[in-house]
Amino acid sequence: MDKRLVIDRVSFSLNGRDVVGTTHPGERLSAFLREKAGARDVKVGCDAGDCGACTVLVEGEIVCACLMPAQQAEGREVETLAGLNDDALMAALAKSFEAHGAAQCGICTPGMMVSAIALLRGTPRPSEAAVMDALGGVLCRCTGYRKIIEAVMAVGAEIDAQDPEGHTGAAIQRLDGADKVTGRERFGDDIAPPETLVVRVIRSPFNRAGFSFGNLEGWAASTSGIEAFLTSADIKGKNCFGVIPAFADQPVFAETEARFRGEAVAAIVGTPDAVRTFSDEDLPIRWEERPAALTIAEAMSNGAQLHEGRDGNIMCGGFVTCGLPDDALKAADVAVEGHFTTSFVEHAYIEPEAGFAEMIGGRVEVHACTQAPVMDLDSLEEILGLDRTQIRVVPTGCGGGFGSKLDISVQPYLALAALKTGKPVRINYSRTESMQSTTKRHPGEMTVRIGATHDGKLCGMVFDGLFNTGAYASWGPTVATRVPVHASGPYAIANYRADAKGIHTHCPPSGAFRGFGVPQAAIAQESLFDELADKLGIDPLEFRITNALQNGDRTVCGQVFEHGVGIKACFEALQAAWDAERAAAAVVNAQGTAIKRGVGVAGGWYGCGNTSLPNPSTIKAGVRADGQIVLHQGAMDIGQGANTVIAQIFASALGVPTTSLELIGGDTDVTPDAGKTSASRQTFVSGNAAKLAGEALRATILAQVNASEASKITSGDGALALRDG
Ligand code: FES
Ligand code: FES
Repeated sequence: MDKRLVIDRVSFSLNGRDVVGTTHPGERLSAFLREKAGARDVKVGCDAGDCGACTVLVEGEIVCACLMPAQQAEGREVETLAGLNDDALMAALAKSFEAHGAAQCGICTPGMMVSAIALLRGTPRPSEAAVMDALGGVLCRCTGYRKIIEAVMAVGAEIDAQDPEGHTGAAIQRLDGADKVTGRERFGDDIAPPETLVVRVIRSPFNRAGFSFGNLEGWAASTSGIEAFLTSADIKGKNCFGVIPAFADQPVFAETEARFRGEAVAAIVGTPDAVRTFSDEDLPIRWEERPAALTIAEAMSNGAQLHEGRDGNIMCGGFVTCGLPDDALKAADVAVEGHFTTSFVEHAYIEPEAGFAEMIGGRVEVHACTQAPVMDLDSLEEILGLDRTQIRVVPTGCGGGFGSKLDISVQPYLALAALKTGKPVRINYSRTESMQSTTKRHPGEMTVRIGATHDGKLCGMVFDGLFNTGAYASWGPTVATRVPVHASGPYAIANYRADAKGIHTHCPPSGAFRGFGVPQAAIAQESLFDELADKLGIDPLEFRITNALQNGDRTVCGQVFEHGVGIKACFEALQAAWDAERAAAAVVNAQGTAIKRGVGVAGGWYGCGNTSLPNPSTIKAGVRADGQIVLHQGAMDIGQGANTVIAQIFASALGVPTTSLELIGGDTDVTPDAGKTSASRQTFVSGNAAKLAGEALRATILAQVNASEASKITSGDGALALRDG
């Protein structure tokens, strides 16, 4: 392959200023804008024209900057979100986005807003269909699009005044919204300066393969622009990580055998040009492909054992039983049985894993997108073999996570490369790399039997589930233990047995993804409920209302919720819509056309927070000498709003307006551990920590000046003031 660099000059107008730079054939406009023109507000989600995150305007027309060669911008006018910030129409759109909560994680927001501006310039009052059409090329994984569409349609409309206190329960705008709607938010790949050394991970091209290296030193020394290579030999601590310490089993670099396609075996560190022109075939590495077990059946029958001590490739299992389920099923008036298979699901956040690391004062600092900065620090401490005081983890903005960014990904490669080269380094997974190497939703194989009596009461259930946890454990133990607890759904079943196991295969690791296996189990259980209702001649909604848990009922684990069980009320609230939709569907279906309409109902539940584990969270707050109240909020906001809601809870407890707080986010040097952002725990757990912190700070302040309980605290103008209430 001819790797000579052909350099060309390109000049164009970017946001009204002239840009001149060198480019090479094939360089994407998105890359040029981000790396050579400082336009980090242009985001990259796929580099393939699929996600629209890179949308810019060229001569006023929307363009996927990742699909346009930089040379094609020659002599043209390019506009990005940051350049439009002074534009009155963009300012109105930004206000509307903030007012409608249209930016959640914010990674799609620049592309959305630029696309919307192109529409609004020609059509100030667009129809919903026109908005949907204009934004159709930009994907959003957070909002469900509704708020974005409403925000675009409402540009220029009056915006409701915000509650001045902004306390718990008030629908205020996101406290971190302004950075998202102006393109200032910095995500994982937005930290590194241009020309920073790039880390590129070398991955197995086979599902299972032995491998050995040739003369890596010689290759690196003779290859221009390559600064270093990394293998397991560079790991001074443990070449092993995992989110559940007792099950930690994943190497940073495989040592002799790769257990899944996409597993890391080495990494190179080089200049951007050297890494760009590098091809995997250049590296002296010999592969020996081996038979792989890709399905649960293969792994449990004749598949090679992936991990010592996990016979039959069974990682672990969970089990819950109560009553006499087999007897109950025999005695049931009606019983149904089904086998259900679910597939891998990719999280598909718009921001692939990315980050930056550098050595500062002899310590290694890692900036990366994550859902769990302190867990990242814990892992790095083990892997690097360094005292944790020598490592700092600073989370960047997180462009979606949905569970997968709970596990470390880029962090060890960044830290190892910074330590080895002593220089700043960056990494940005390609979409392919992200999909190959990071965790997925567990595929499930489930066999379920459920019985009921003539009056529609559930009497027994037996659930058997096998879950493909891939080559490494990740959150597989959580799935194996959480599924049996929740496979009943939010229903009262006196006789129950559920068994779930995680099975290792030569697939990518399965991990955390909304519900930890519970949605898979719900597909099986809810489908069989419909069959049961059908056989009993009972309306499916009524069947669920009859069996829904209520206050004081005992769950299949024997837990009794004394209050707050709302599932029956939820189902009952659906009654009118259910009746109307069923009637409408009956009319459509009576027409005898090929296309039929169905109406369904399903319930679901899962525990909030860590499964069967402590759920600690620490929130730190205080008052600076200038009277400014500071809240250290380490619960990662991945778009769900933790930065705002936890501040609201704290401000309510302290008795000050939410907007008067100074927020300091995650940073393992200065902000305590609020635990990981997963399992819907942050509002409840960190929110309660914030409440306690607010109450404690209030009590401390009042005690200092012997003020009454009803005193009003205000902060500002360089002082903290108290007024008797
Ligand atoms: S469409 Fe360009 S980055 Fe996805
Ligand atoms: S706000 Fe759209 S992807 Fe997160």
